[in-house]
Amino acid sequence: IHPVPVIAIDGPSASGKGTIAQRVANELNYHYLDSGALYRLVALKAMQCHTDLTDQTTLATMATQLDVVFAAGTVRLEGTIVADAIRTEQCGILASKIAAYPPVRDALLSRQHAFRLPPGLVTDGRDMGSVVFPDATLKIFLTASAEVRAERRYKQLKEKGISATIPDLLQDIQKRDARDRNRSVAPLQQNSDARILDTTSLSVIQVLNKVIAWYTEVCASK
Ligand code: CDP
Ligand code: CDP
Repeated sequence: IHPVPVIAIDGPSASGKGTIAQRVANELNYHYLDSGALYRLVALKAMQCHTDLTDQTTLATMATQLDVVFAAGTVRLEGTIVADAIRTEQCGILASKIAAYPPVRDALLSRQHAFRLPPGLVTDGRDMGSVVFPDATLKIFLTASAEVRAERRYKQLKEKGISATIPDLLQDIQKRDARDRNRSVAPLQQNSDARILDTTSLSVIQVLNKVIAWYTEVCASK
């Protein structure tokens, strides 16, 4: 048994995984891993280098050699802050395309495991509970209707000054969800050992309280 606990939060795009995982990590003083950022970073690097996006070997090498630092609430690629650059829908779409390649996923595996440090880790993505941390202490599948998720993403982008429309975002979200669900490796799915939380009509605080309550319950039963 691994001594460091993990809370794994998986779910579709804009369901609130990142927001909730970060808040839970803050509350518990645990480390936080945004696994999607790693796929987005490989996508950004590939765009910058005009890499052939079907060349799985080159993309996997890129993933292995990625010079990335997560610190002080931001992320740097080769020293440059790219926190906003990786958040565009274009980068998300590209990330989901390269995330379907097994060599890219393998290349990012050890990098993700390295985040499992005391006193604990909260992580979010698509395969945190199923593939990367199958022994996670608590596994959650966060979801919400596609319409509500498109609205959440719209508000988020607007705050960052990035222009978008709700119908376009809805279409991007639906396409990306379909690709993530239907790929053969590490697909997005509700696993039987994950607790499902539909956040369509819940606030961030309500979701946060639920996750903390579940974690307290799981820890007490051990
Ligand atoms: O990481 P993921 O793509 O799943 O979602 P996110 O980047 O955390 O974005 C979710 C957005 O919806 C944030 O702006 C949250 O404030 C908002 N939100 C939420 O996360 N959970 C709710 N229950 C309600 C709103
Ligand atoms: O924030 P949002 O949910 O929109 O996306 P993200 O979590 O940053 O992930 C971007 C893309 O990376 C997803 O659409 C997935 O294709 C891929 N991804 C993955 O395959 N496995 C993960 N653990 C995390 C992300």
